[in-house]
Amino acid sequence: MIIHILQDADRLGELAARHIEVALLGVSSPVLGVATGSSPEPVYAALAARANAGTFRVDGLRAFALDEYVGLPDDHDERYRNVLLRAFANPLGIDGDRVHVPDGGGEDAPLAAARYEQAIQLAGGIDLQLLGIGRNGHIGFNEPGSDFRSLTRVVELTESTRVANARFFARAEEVPRQSISQGLATIMRSRAVVLIATGAEKADAVRAALTGPVTTDMPASVLQRHPRVSIYLDGAAAASLDLQLLESIAVVHDWRE
Ligand code: F6R
Repeated sequence: MIIHILQDADRLGELAARHIEVALLGVSSPVLGVATGSSPEPVYAALAARANAGTFRVDGLRAFALDEYVGLPDDHDERYRNVLLRAFANPLGIDGDRVHVPDGGGEDAPLAAARYEQAIQLAGGIDLQLLGIGRNGHIGFNEPGSDFRSLTRVVELTESTRVANARFFARAEEVPRQSISQGLATIMRSRAVVLIATGAEKADAVRAALTGPVTTDMPASVLQRHPRVSIYLDGAAAASLDLQLLESIAVVHDWRE
């Protein structure tokens, strides 16, 4: 595991974007796993700048979302397909038909989940999966207690996740109760993982995930078992880490001045 600690979210975005660009260089039809939420926004902004400057080549790139809410109408601003088009695909000049998102709006969400898992396999698997982390340690919408063997499936959102995500909706009651999420085993099959965390409210989850026991109570802790994980943190998200302990288990690059 390699851990980068940056001064602020903008610098974090630049470094993580460069990491993604380098990791996908030489992959002929790269498959990038993309997250929604606030954490990846600086990464997408920096990737868009690199795509527009011509250094990050997006021709041939396909993207697979981590998750999608169940039951939001097609035109809802917070439907993750729409969020990803706005924040990721359009600024990078990627056609919408190359962005795959589970179908959370259909009649049969479990079937849509199974088809999505299959679509990832048919695409050859994910070359690099970008992740955020929830305050309760979720990755994707794999809430505490999720099975490490889980594949893409319908999941119930915890109350704490619904409260955290209420900021994106006009009214808290509008936050869906279910989503279709890649499972923990799906995420672990990605050939490389980049996890982003910013802000003090992530500090406890970051410490537990990186230096605590590997347990389903802290879903992100499963990443300790992944052979190619890079973590990008701002100073606030890294604040609870015991850097001495961390240096005994990971490579730490502290880029702060
Ligand atoms: C998003 C996702 C979630 C978020 C997490 C952090 O697709 O699956 O795991 O990454 O909830 O969200 P932010 O970045 O908004 O704090």
